[in-house]
Amino acid sequence: MSISKKSGSYDVIVVGAGAAGMMCAAVAGQAGKSVLLVDHASKLAEKIRISGGGRCNFTNLHATWQNFISDNPHFCRSALSRYSPQDFLNLVKRYRIAFHEKHKGQLFCDVSAEDIINMLRSECNAGQVSWAMPCKVLDIDRSPDGFVVTTEEKILMANNVVIATGGLSIPKIGATDFSYRIAKKFGLKVVEPRPALVPLTFEANDWAAFVSMAGISLEVDIETGSQKNKIVFREDLLFTHRGLSGPAILQISSYWQPKQSIFLNLLPEVALSTELIQAKTSSKKNLTNWLSAYLPLRLVEGLLAAHGFDGNLRIADMPDKRLQLLGEKINRWELIPNGTEGYRKAEVTRGGVDTRELSQQSMMSKKVPGLFFVGEAVDVTGWLGGFNFQWAWASGVAAGQGI
Ligand code: FDA
Repeated sequence: MSISKKSGSYDVIVVGAGAAGMMCAAVAGQAGKSVLLVDHASKLAEKIRISGGGRCNFTNLHATWQNFISDNPHFCRSALSRYSPQDFLNLVKRYRIAFHEKHKGQLFCDVSAEDIINMLRSECNAGQVSWAMPCKVLDIDRSPDGFVVTTEEKILMANNVVIATGGLSIPKIGATDFSYRIAKKFGLKVVEPRPALVPLTFEANDWAAFVSMAGISLEVDIETGSQKNKIVFREDLLFTHRGLSGPAILQISSYWQPKQSIFLNLLPEVALSTELIQAKTSSKKNLTNWLSAYLPLRLVEGLLAAHGFDGNLRIADMPDKRLQLLGEKINRWELIPNGTEGYRKAEVTRGGVDTRELSQQSMMSKKVPGLFFVGEAVDVTGWLGGFNFQWAWASGVAAGQGI
């Protein structure tokens, strides 16, 4: 699949120089293809730069296909198994980038996400990849020779085009709907995109009673879904002025559907109703004092007030029924969010180009040979914890090798 050497013609044009695009360009370039990488941003790979609080959680050692959400859940298995977290880690080690494991297999740079960007740039240079930045791609059309890529500056030709323009999250650093537009233009289905890994919000009136708890953080079990399709995470929860955030909420937000309940267990290791009822015979403490042995005092006071309990009442004087109810409020607190903080705050976009349209070997469109989709543009969304980058690397490599 080689195109003539005339100026402006390439074996591959990769649109989007983010995580997936750079990985794909480097692999294709190092395999001897002529590659042009085009991005409309003036600063390279801004999402990598801001990721992981500036230290880039670049992979997760325990990543498997089960850590990803998709309408076609098995699709990602092939690419993930052919390019594993260990493969990316070997690259990181080859560049002598210092890293550490934070928890649960999450690997972060010791110094800066900038190290990962520089590594990918060097890998592209090793593949003689050409760059066009800043340069916005406006449209893509088919031609008898391959594809015509129309940019703001000029018209380019390529045998293959890889769309690596990501999802809709964080529009202020350049996110666009380009991938979905191009997919639809070529007749490919798109699974409806929506914000994921995003804080959840509540009606201001419903939340008023909990505002005083803003800033409190604790480890919880969080659950959503139907009995048959239940998903539970144990992660840290953060109370905010507008609602809830922290890893627990970000994780569950990717599964949450509008109008659905979420359930919080604020004390996952304690069967609280039972403990409270047993304490009636042995404890002289009031509710606030007794509960503050388990939970932060400010949270105890806030929860008791919000759920209509008088913290000064002695446990021994309370009916079992009330203690049972209080236990349930803490072990299985039901909340119905009214929405999310949207793409402005979402770490990723759920949904995207329908994977049933793509080859799981190469990420190439089954209907349009030569047209590839990689990374977040595709309907494969990882959990929080380095999984989304692992998908970007693995899908980028699959396409880079498949061209
Ligand atoms: P990405 O969005 O990285 O790249 C797309 C590129 O396309 C951009 O450079 C954009 O400018 C360009 N583009 C768009 N339209 C264009 C057009 N028309 N013409 C030309 N160029 C165009 N994940 C993880 O695993 N670990 C982490 O620590 C974090 N942390 C994190 C923090 C924050 C704040 C966010 C927002 C996200 C994360 N993520 C993360 C998610 C991760 O950043 C994300 O999944 C990947 O960057 C997706 O990589 P892509 O290459 O697919 O898209």
